[in-house]
Amino acid sequence: MLNPEKSLNDRLTDRLARNSILAKLGETWQPVMLGLRDAGGPPVKYVLNGTFLGHALHPVLTDIPIGAWTVTAVLDAVELAGSDVALASDATLGLGLLGSVAAVATGYADWADTKDEPRTLGMGHALANGIAVAGYVVSLLLRRADRRGAGIAVAYLSYAVATFAAYLGGELMANYQLGTKHTAEPLDPPDGFTRVATLDAIEDGGMSAAGVNGIALLLFRRGQTVFAISGACTHRGGPLREGTLEGDACVRCPWHGSVFSLEDGAVIEGPASFPQARFETRVVDGSVEVRAPVR
Ligand code: FES
Repeated sequence: MLNPEKSLNDRLTDRLARNSILAKLGETWQPVMLGLRDAGGPPVKYVLNGTFLGHALHPVLTDIPIGAWTVTAVLDAVELAGSDVALASDATLGLGLLGSVAAVATGYADWADTKDEPRTLGMGHALANGIAVAGYVVSLLLRRADRRGAGIAVAYLSYAVATFAAYLGGELMANYQLGTKHTAEPLDPPDGFTRVATLDAIEDGGMSAAGVNGIALLLFRRGQTVFAISGACTHRGGPLREGTLEGDACVRCPWHGSVFSLEDGAVIEGPASFPQARFETRVVDGSVEVRAPVR
């Protein structure tokens, strides 16, 4: 049941996020995109999910088509007013199309790990962008065929669709938190050192879940030293305490397979792009103590 007290745009987003046709399309299409992304192995995720950047790459690249097509819209208006700027407007249109290829690839890489409403809304976002891209291709062909009036009209329609798609992209990020850091900074980190475990309770070379001030932690012991990182995965908040210990002091998230260093929280393998918060630790009289994250 949709909430009538919600704003018009929230209700529109809700409707799209629960649309059964988009849901079905997303369900069918997602395994294909997931297979394509994962077939490339960790290096593909490292690039497309923005792990190398420490930030989701998709929202960065979308600025290229949006920016280029905004310039096209302005230049088209100048052309309609009588100035000859056809070369420049066609060039910016083409630049937007080139940029959209990179934006689409990174967008699908992020979308491949979604489920439920974000997956459905993401499908709507992708479809709207697909329509906009197709429209710009048609516009370019019309311009090349010297039918500039029709080409400009199609470009304006495409711009409207691309703007709507960008709005849905904003909803996915701001409302559904795709591409955001899920364990930003703990709201209430301990100021001073706080006891969270005993050293003996942690197997040497093993992981152990702990908590402080309501913050989930994951501890890792190496000899007499204990390391502590946030226990909620930065990608989508997955429970790292249920993850698997891998290689030399790494944990693999049970939800989408991101791998983090247990010693400093660094991302070793995507799709996560943000590192885990690392807490300062010490061992005193057999007790493991932690305090606010190391910055
Ligand atoms: S929640 Fe997605 S990899 Fe951890």
